Amino acid sequence: MRSQIHSLRRNAIRCFGSLLIASLITPTVFGAGTTVRFAGDSSGTGGAFIKKLCDQWAQKTGNKVEIISRPQDASATLQQYQQYWAAKSADVDAYQIDVIWQGIVAPHAVDLKKYYKDDEVKAYFPRIIENNTVKGKLVSIPWFTDAGVLYYRTDLLEKYGYKEPPKTWEELDEMAKKIQEGERNSGKRDFQGFVFQGKASESVTCNAIEWVYSYGGGVIIEPDKKVTINNPNAIKALQTAKSWVGTISPAGVVTYGEEEARNVWQAGNAAFMRNWPYAYALGQDPKSAVAGKFDVTVLPKGGDNGKNAACLGGWNLMVSTYSKAQDVAADLVRYLDSSDAQKQRAVELSLLPTLPALYADSDVLAKNPWFKNMLEVLKNAIARPSTVTGADYNQISTAFFQSVNKVLSGGQSAQDAVKEVEKVGKRLVR
Ligand code: GLC
Repeated sequence: MRSQIHSLRRNAIRCFGSLLIASLITPTVFGAGTTVRFAGDSSGTGGAFIKKLCDQWAQKTGNKVEIISRPQDASATLQQYQQYWAAKSADVDAYQIDVIWQGIVAPHAVDLKKYYKDDEVKAYFPRIIENNTVKGKLVSIPWFTDAGVLYYRTDLLEKYGYKEPPKTWEELDEMAKKIQEGERNSGKRDFQGFVFQGKASESVTCNAIEWVYSYGGGVIIEPDKKVTINNPNAIKALQTAKSWVGTISPAGVVTYGEEEARNVWQAGNAAFMRNWPYAYALGQDPKSAVAGKFDVTVLPKGGDNGKNAACLGGWNLMVSTYSKAQDVAADLVRYLDSSDAQKQRAVELSLLPTLPALYADSDVLAKNPWFKNMLEVLKNAIARPSTVTGADYNQISTAFFQSVNKVLSGGQSAQDAVKEVEKVGKRLVR
């Protein structure tokens, strides 16, 4: 990651020089022959897919796209982007941004209403459009949405006599223990019951908000600005998660992001995994050890009286207000986000479209039969407290993920953790 930061900085310095000269000659660039710099995914199948679309657009329009890679980790990505925004840099024209950053990004974003007709905007999930609209400005256009889901091994559930995936975390714990013990006894020494994201970053914020909400412990700061995290249900949720570490989950889970969890899972070394939809297409690849052996369902409830909770995630596209090629960048954004592109991406990468119409598309459903349940999951998905905290969201999330990570690692009690997060929350929404 450090080398990525360095190369980004190098790039930034190099581009700054050339853009300064270019901007003196041509303050705004409109037509063919323009290079659009897009900061987004560049590695793995997701990166390859973006590159393919960018190349198509470049060929069609006679422009060029330079992709500036971002780290896999959302929190590290924000740090990088903030360097550009703080410098009002014209070195990046368009960004792939997280659903929780709208309040942070708003001052640096072009109002995309300029580039989308009203009925085009209406075709997206209204909830995401609302989330992405800050003081009347459409900060970003929804690209793909995300919801936390439970992956489970159908073959192993059958082998150990289970007819259904777990309905509560307590059931998951029990099943994971039995399967883990059985698999380890039959020689798979590294087999794990449950893998998830415990890393001190936005990754564990998403996991932990699901645990807390599922036990009836709220969403840290409620939409009416009440800071609710210091409550017995939230404490119970964190204690429950802590009890998994070193039993059904590896001790190292406290350093796992999405990809670390997926690597264990996809190698066939876990019974259950919490992750985002992207892991489905990768897991079903013929080269994957778990292809044809797993399914996806809603995350468990916290006890019999709990609720199902899927954290709402997702990525969006914005055009920088510091860009010297805003119109061309917006044209690329429109191309990357078209219905065709979203459909292709759902089929190839199992990423959830932001156009509800695509959930009834037969090609999408043929490849991802479980998408038929996702409209309902998305409708009930739990938003992190980013609208209520706006530009300060990262402060509350950082306090939360650091404390939760300490609880999981055994360095802090759940009671102390929620008190600390409460303090930060109260300062922010005062
Ligand atoms: C996924 C989600 C994003 C979230 C991130 C955390 O990429 O789409 O919203 O912040 O995971 O790791």
